[in-house]
Amino acid sequence: MKMNPTQENRTNAALQNQLNTQLANWSVLGVKLHAYHWFVKGPQFFTLHKKFEELYGAAAGYTDELAERLLAIGGTPAASMSQYLQLASVKEYSGPMTAEEMTADLASDFRTIAAQLSAGIVEAGQEGDEPSGDLLTGMKAEVEKQAWMLESFSGR
Ligand SMILES: [Fe+2]
Repeated sequence: MKMNPTQENRTNAALQNQLNTQLANWSVLGVKLHAYHWFVKGPQFFTLHKKFEELYGAAAGYTDELAERLLAIGGTPAASMSQYLQLASVKEYSGPMTAEEMTADLASDFRTIAAQLSAGIVEAGQEGDEPSGDLLTGMKAEVEKQAWMLESFSGR
């Protein structure tokens, strides 16, 4: 059902929660990807150092798009690290890891995020909010592609 903008602002709390969860995920991942970029070691250093840089760049873009979409639909984006850690479904970096552990952890994070994005896409559809649905759908396609690449890199 298509709603007028005023109704939309009052009734899209579930969608706003989905967008804030993704904002939190990408904020935590942005910090974690920097850690992986800095601390990765081994024969794949140059490949992974560069890949993690590409991914934290994408994370920065997603956080800004999600926050501004939240504002555009009358929501309030989470905007502190403590909120991000509370809302995120991905875990932050917590100590030394091998390159293999880093790629496996990221692939797992991306699969988790893809599943949550599916729920967000359904929610956006129920709200008749095509722009939010488009944003989440684009992110899901990219996240699934990156998960496949990371799994292939690890020989899985
Ligand atoms: Fe760098």
